[in-house]
Amino acid sequence: MFFLWFFFMLAAAAVARAQTLEEVLTAHSDTLSMMLMWLASQEFIFECLSEAKGITLLAPSNTALARLFGTSLPARLASDMNLLTAFVNYHILDGVYHMADFVSARTTSAPTFLSIPAYSNMSEVQVIQERSENGTLTFFTGGGAQSIDLDFTGGTLHVIDSVLMVPGRVTDTLVVAGYTAAVGALRLANIDGPLDALSNMTVFVPNNEAFIAIGSAISYMTIEQLTIVLNYHFVRGRVLRSQLITTGTQRSAQGAVLNFRVENGALFVNSARVIATDLLVKNGVVHILDGVLNPANATATPDPNAATQAPAFNGLTTTTCGVSFTAPVVPTTTVSTNAVPTATASSPTTPTPTLVRGDAAQARRALGVTVVCGLAQYDHYV
Ligand SMILES: *[C@@H]1O[C@H](CO)[C@@H](O)[C@H](O)[C@H]1NC(C)=O
Ligand SMILES: *[C@@H]1O[C@H](CO)[C@@H](O)[C@H](O)[C@H]1NC(C)=O
Ligand SMILES: *[C@@H]1O[C@H](CO)[C@@H](O)[C@H](O)[C@H]1NC(C)=O
Ligand SMILES: *[C@@H]1O[C@H](CO)[C@@H](O)[C@H](O)[C@H]1NC(C)=O
Repeated sequence: MFFLWFFFMLAAAAVARAQTLEEVLTAHSDTLSMMLMWLASQEFIFECLSEAKGITLLAPSNTALARLFGTSLPARLASDMNLLTAFVNYHILDGVYHMADFVSARTTSAPTFLSIPAYSNMSEVQVIQERSENGTLTFFTGGGAQSIDLDFTGGTLHVIDSVLMVPGRVTDTLVVAGYTAAVGALRLANIDGPLDALSNMTVFVPNNEAFIAIGSAISYMTIEQLTIVLNYHFVRGRVLRSQLITTGTQRSAQGAVLNFRVENGALFVNSARVIATDLLVKNGVVHILDGVLNPANATATPDPNAATQAPAFNGLTTTTCGVSFTAPVVPTTTVSTNAVPTATASSPTTPTPTLVRGDAAQARRALGVTVVCGLAQYDHYV
């Protein structure tokens, strides 16, 4: 009798210490029931996740999945195995990251399992940016996360209130983020395609106001001159996330150097202020500037105390600019962006999760899932 009781207590203690993924999802069915139902329909993925060790799962809440069903993404996921794999793998971090790990740094990034070339043309795996502010953790490519650690046998889980969009092409990402003048300029100079085909790159993108401010100069530029200016805005062969940039220089694709300065905690490229950092794209990273960089004026320096900087181009007139590319442009594809989906669920009742109908055989062939499974020593599946 005593021994039975003892073993019962031991078993109970073991369960309390380490619940399986399924048990954790079940215990939090108020927010994660749709995730559980979806995983149940994805036998192979569920098995891999359950067996994996040392991972952090970013689990979209019921609200996040309901919102997703109002978009066209589920249909695309169902018909594109590569996209599904990229999407799933982007929600899994390689390592156990507890809330406390994030809270210590203002912005950090963590590696995901996304490494499919079509969705991550970098020598490193795609990352997720996190920001921790006032106790709320925000994953940069998506919404916020609950500030609790839901540990399971394979690692830990955070509930996120929006699905994470797999980083997409530079131009699509810029269109969604509203930086349409830059997209117009890149298309006019015909370097949008080549930019998307590069790997390992960093782009500094002037905002719309910056292009408008030099409108009178741009309207007199030839395509060749515009190309020279635009090429001065990116660095080939280096993925310079903001935490890697300090005072110093980098050679631009145009040939002239870019001068980085950190002044009063703000980052400047030549005289332009970096106003948004780390927009993730499939082949690198994008930072947003409040000025257009001038390769003929690499020595331009900022006034760190001024809210706005003088444009780095001389001879500007105040004529309202008639530059056509500052007009809104439309995306050529909607495959993936860094934006939070804006569509809402069509019905207030919880829709049936029809995200993707399971096809374990197909999933088995998927490259990225193999990566997670490799971690879980599931090599015999491939
Ligand atoms: C990306 O950079 C890595 C080194 O950081 C290099 O090994 C790889 O070949 C680069 N990819 C391309 C296509 O340049
Ligand atoms: C965090 O709190 C500070 C001070 O209360 C506030 O100014 C700031 O906007 C908050 N940040 C977020 C992301 O809520
Ligand atoms: C990845 O980058 C390489 C080198 O720049 C390029 O040749 C290739 O087409 C790119 N792949 C994709 C899928 O964009
Ligand atoms: C260089 O930039 C400064 C502003 O930082 C501007 O006043 C100056 O006119 C520019 N020079 C040239 C040659 O464009």
